This record gives sequence, C-alpha cells and structure tokens, in this order.
Amino acid sequence: GTDPIKLMKQEVGKAAANRVQSGMIVGLGTGSTTAYAIEFIGNRLKSGELKDIIGIPTSFQAEVLAKKHGVPLTTLDAVDHIDIAIDGADEVDPQKNLIKGGGAAHTREKVVDAFADQFIVVVDSGKLVEKLGSTFLLPVEVIPMALAPTLRAIEKLGGKPELREGIRKAGPVITDQGNFVIDVKFNTIENPAELEKALNNIPGVLENGLFVGVADLILVGEVQEGQPVVR
Ligand code: A5P
Repeated sequence: GTDPIKLMKQEVGKAAANRVQSGMIVGLGTGSTTAYAIEFIGNRLKSGELKDIIGIPTSFQAEVLAKKHGVPLTTLDAVDHIDIAIDGADEVDPQKNLIKGGGAAHTREKVVDAFADQFIVVVDSGKLVEKLGSTFLLPVEVIPMALAPTLRAIEKLGGKPELREGIRKAGPVITDQGNFVIDVKFNTIENPAELEKALNNIPGVLENGLFVGVADLILVGEVQEGQPVVR
C-alpha cells in the first residue's frame, strides 16, 4: 500500500531487523511497527542471510507473529542474556524515555526490553513529544481485585484514571497475564522517573508504561518528499 504511516513503519521495522546478527538472542516487541521487524527477521532467516536466531516474545501477539514468520522462540529461563530487543512505543521524549502499553503489553515488554544489552525503539515521527503524557494516556496494569484502591491512589498522584474497555468485547481489556489496564491522564509528566516508581509502589499495581533510561537507540520513520526514510 501507499499509506505513509504504514510505509514509515515498514522502513523502520526493516532498519531494526537489519541490526540483528547471526547467533543473537532477540527480544521481540509488540505492536504494528515491531510486527514488520519480526517479519523482516523471518525473511532474513529464510534467505539464509541470518542464522541461529532465537527470539523472546513480549506478548501473545509477538509469539504468534514469530511462529508465522519462522522465527524460533525460547523463554527467559532458557537464556542468560538478550543481545538486542526491538520494540515500538506510544511516545518518545528527547531523553529517550518512553510511554508504552498502548497494546496492553508493557509489563512483559519492560521485562524483556530492560534485560536486553541493546534496546532499539521503532517509531514513526508522530510518536515524538517534548514531554511524556502530552498526547497519550499512561497505561498501568493492575490485578483485578486491587482496582478500586488503585484508582483512588492514582487520583492522589494527580492523574485521571480510566479502566480500559474492550473494543469488540463487553467489559475491561484483559492483559496476557489476566489483569486490567488503567489509562491515566496526566497533564504532561514532569518527572517520569519519580512517577514510574510512585505508580509501581501502589499495592496491586504490576507495572506502568513509563520506560525511563531503558532505550538505547530510537529509530524514527519519516516521510520526506513522499519517500519513507529512517533517522
Ligand atoms: C504495546 O503494549 C505497546 O507498548 C506498543 O509497543 C506500542 O503501542 C507501539 O505500537 P505501534 O507500533 O502499533 O504503534
């Protein structure tokens, strides 16, 4: 297709996939941009250009895509390191801090992405912001029985929380771990490191979508003169 956003996602996915080398253990992220990276890693394996890759999926979606594109998988207990993780983001600030979790996968993503020796973020230019929280709600995964006190605790931190509802499902979105996601409106996040800790300190909260000091490289897809480019 010629959809410019799709082209940017494809280009940036390919650029990330090209950074994977034979023998690497690769963290496989979640979302529509990373989906292209997984596809291109699979293509490079099929062509014989890449050998001995093993992937660690960050979600059920990543697992399904890896299987579809012929990328072998393992689990964290079978490896002692991850060479490279490739994952998308919902917002990226100039310090390479991120908001993730638009796909409700941020808990497993943070485990894999933070553990990787190198974490590469793949985004289109629309994800770049001066301050986190300015365009996207911050996702917080919570165990279901802790929902009510967690909503109150988030309000005390100055956020406006909303339980994420399913689109083609009645009732709340259920994560891969069987939990709920609360999307929180903050009027720009001034101190992401502090907020990340404060949210995770609420009893029953599993993980929030702030990724502070985790990303090593941001690959940004842009359209210039009608052509997709990566910078
Ligand atoms: C999943 O929970 C998110 O963290 C995704 O990585 C993020 O939403 C990016 O997805 P897209 O590449 O589809 O925008």
